[in-house]
Amino acid sequence: MFIVKEIQTAAYLFASILFILSLSGLSSQESAKRGVLYGIVGMIIAIIATVLGQGVEGHVYIIGAIAIASVIGIMLARKVEMTAMPQLVAILHSFVGLAAVLVGYGSYLDPTTQNLHGAEHTIHLVEVFAGVFIGAITFTGSIIAWGKLDGKVPSKPWSFSGLQLMNLSLLIVCIVLGVMFCGAEGTSGMLYLGIMTAIASFIGVVLVMAIGGGDMPVVVSMLNSYSGWAASAAGFMLGNDLLIVTGALVGSSGAILSMHMCHAMNRSFFSVIFASGSGNAKAGEKKAIEGEVTSLNHEEVANLLKEAKSVVIVPGYGMAVAKAQYPIYEMVQTLRKAGKNVRFAIHPVAGRLPGHMNVLLAEANVPYDIVLEMDEINDDMPDTDVVMVIGANDVVNPSAQDDPASSIYGMPVIEAWKAEKVIIMKRSMSAGYSGEDNPLFYKPNSEMLYGDAKASVEKLLSSLKG
Ligand code: TAP
Repeated sequence: MFIVKEIQTAAYLFASILFILSLSGLSSQESAKRGVLYGIVGMIIAIIATVLGQGVEGHVYIIGAIAIASVIGIMLARKVEMTAMPQLVAILHSFVGLAAVLVGYGSYLDPTTQNLHGAEHTIHLVEVFAGVFIGAITFTGSIIAWGKLDGKVPSKPWSFSGLQLMNLSLLIVCIVLGVMFCGAEGTSGMLYLGIMTAIASFIGVVLVMAIGGGDMPVVVSMLNSYSGWAASAAGFMLGNDLLIVTGALVGSSGAILSMHMCHAMNRSFFSVIFASGSGNAKAGEKKAIEGEVTSLNHEEVANLLKEAKSVVIVPGYGMAVAKAQYPIYEMVQTLRKAGKNVRFAIHPVAGRLPGHMNVLLAEANVPYDIVLEMDEINDDMPDTDVVMVIGANDVVNPSAQDDPASSIYGMPVIEAWKAEKVIIMKRSMSAGYSGEDNPLFYKPNSEMLYGDAKASVEKLLSSLKG
């Protein structure tokens, strides 16, 4: 059974509108679930309209492949821990990149495209070349990002002085190969396409290797953008309008997110995407950390909380690891019932995914009006009695402000140390994702509360209620 072209076009238009509504829904926590639903419905319509389109053959194989992939996808999504989501996202980006490469090769070798002539033929070849180029960079770059997020590849930036020059030279070589590819007869351009694929794959590796530590959020959103452009390129090659539009939506929203991330981390967008040194760190000795680390037990921290009037909670990646959001919200409710002003301070790159903390707090039903962004709450820190840093580290590290040799220098942070008392809840003195030691732990108004975040909050709760 086939549907006529007009119905397919109408379905594609409807699906595109749903994707746009989905993106707009995802822009706020209140409407995020609705946004996801729009996306799911849009994708179902898009798949049905494509599979039933005229000229599509081998439905049994297509449905079989979709069924197998859906089962694998559902199993993976059920199994994967929330803390491993960034790795999953990175590896899924790599699939989009690989798909664009394979579509490019398939489209080049497709006998029907060999019948194209003149400008139409040249445009097709440019689409193939550009699609494979973006796809190969996305594929290998996403694999390296997956490795960095999963701890399989060191997260520290790896770079050398001639990196930009090398990347620029490789880009020029690819352009020359592209010209030769477009001039080649029949399918004799395969050699040029193959060499370019190898070079682009190499560029993908070095581009992402050069970024790391605290700048990884930008890599995640940047690869998200690349995967969109790769999908869009595949849409051009296949002549599929919906894929072009959807890819462009993902590509541009990913690029906007990357810019937001760079702004939040005080990094230049272009220096990140061209891997020209990911941080603002200056050469030189790191500042020696002064002070002594002191700690309190649960009873003592509970007493501090009982006396406090205003409390700010700064969650970080450790909250996700410990799955502490539920007892944290219970503790917040207990404190609010006792008349205390309790709010959350969210850093834009806390956790390992954009919006990671917001998602976890929303899951625990924390009301949105007490969840504030870093910029909204930093000025209130000097008037705060107790700041509870729960599983966060880099996002409250003062060396981002006062140690030019620190790799996170220049990144805006939550100024927890300005509060009267800071309680840091983590299991040990180990560093955060950036690998930088945290002078906050040594400040005279700081106290450590060691242990798993969830277990600690549960103990605090029973002391508060007792
Ligand atoms: P981190 O700096 O990574 O620190 C998390 C802390 O949580 C660790 O120091 C760890 O200390 C503690 N922790 C781990 N498991 C815990 C548990 N079960 N209970 C209590 N504490 C636990 O986290 P952050 O402050 O959220 O900063 C995020 C970092 O990740 C930034 O550098 C950011 O650039 C980077 N990053 C972010 C993203 C996105 S998009 N958000 C993506 C990639 C990378 P212990 O081991 O001592 O417990």
